[in-house]
Amino acid sequence: MKICILGSGGFLGGYFKEKYPDAQTPKLDIADQTALIAYLDAEKPDIVINCAGKTGRPNVDWCEDHKPETVRSNVTGALMVMEECLNRHIYLVHIGSGCIYQGDNGGKGWAETDPPNYFGSFYSRTKAWSDEILSEFPVLNIRLRMPFDGTASPRNLIMKLAKYGRVLDEPNSLTNMPDLLNAVAQLMEKRLTGTFNIVNPGVISPFEVMEMYKEIVDPAHVFERLTVDHLGEVAKTGRSNCILSGEKLRKAGIEMPDVREAVKNALVELRGIDEK
Ligand SMILES: NC(=O)c1ccc[n+]([C@@H]2O[C@H](COP(=O)([O-])OP(=O)(O)OC[C@H]3O[C@@H](n4cnc5c(N)ncnc54)[C@H](OP(=O)(O)O)[C@@H]3O)[C@@H](O)[C@H]2O)c1
Repeated sequence: MKICILGSGGFLGGYFKEKYPDAQTPKLDIADQTALIAYLDAEKPDIVINCAGKTGRPNVDWCEDHKPETVRSNVTGALMVMEECLNRHIYLVHIGSGCIYQGDNGGKGWAETDPPNYFGSFYSRTKAWSDEILSEFPVLNIRLRMPFDGTASPRNLIMKLAKYGRVLDEPNSLTNMPDLLNAVAQLMEKRLTGTFNIVNPGVISPFEVMEMYKEIVDPAHVFERLTVDHLGEVAKTGRSNCILSGEKLRKAGIEMPDVREAVKNALVELRGIDEK
């Protein structure tokens, strides 16, 4: 089985590269149709995992000032990869985002069939545009949220939050990366297509994550509560805060551990790194 990972140099691409060490990792612009076709026709992968996209550095605020680049990667490139994979009957796994919603849908969480309802940042809008089109085609479209694990990666949600002096206290769905990799592997095994929310069941706020961090990793850690009405003081553009439903994934026979349990385990792992 020949697997190709696009965007393998990025944060999520790195996890998939570790999970599939024999995968090909071509360095091409996914919106460059000529380069994409040349690669797919020469190498004929069976599976393409598209982890390429613009997320902005240091954060999604970057996308507000880099709209052409953001559209090229998150919309044009995503659709180009989809079209060329479909033309060749290549199984496509697209890494999308749950940051296209706001709120908790009356406590039920947003299902895969609910239309996006968060348009407060350009990043989120591009992810919603491509998500809506991809969902019309037979590709596996993965929506995750705020990825975390027990590593010291600066892109790990927990490590990011640990650097903030003020931490948002809004309930959210989160995704533990090892759980996501297992879930995607199972979906891939069954060659399932369609959109899947992959989040750990339960709800937690970034502030609560830091309270657990203080308890488990660093009792001296200092931070303050940030409420959503003060978010504008620390971020240029809005942020999605939402709860996704994991019902479809569960019905597909894939169980994810509870979010608080997963955060606790990640923090215990981080404490181990700290103590070394
Ligand atoms: N990290 C999160 O919190 C999160 C959450 C939910 C969903 N996602 C989604 O997951 C995907 C990967 O995110 P990430 O966190 O891994 O981002 P990342 O660390 O910024 O990695 C993205 C990778 O894609 C590459 N890339 C961007 N545009 C490309 C293009 N046109 N052609 C080929 N490669 C391109 C980037 O290269 P350059 O650096 O050279 O641009 C980078 O190596 C994105 O689609 C993102 O929306 C991320």
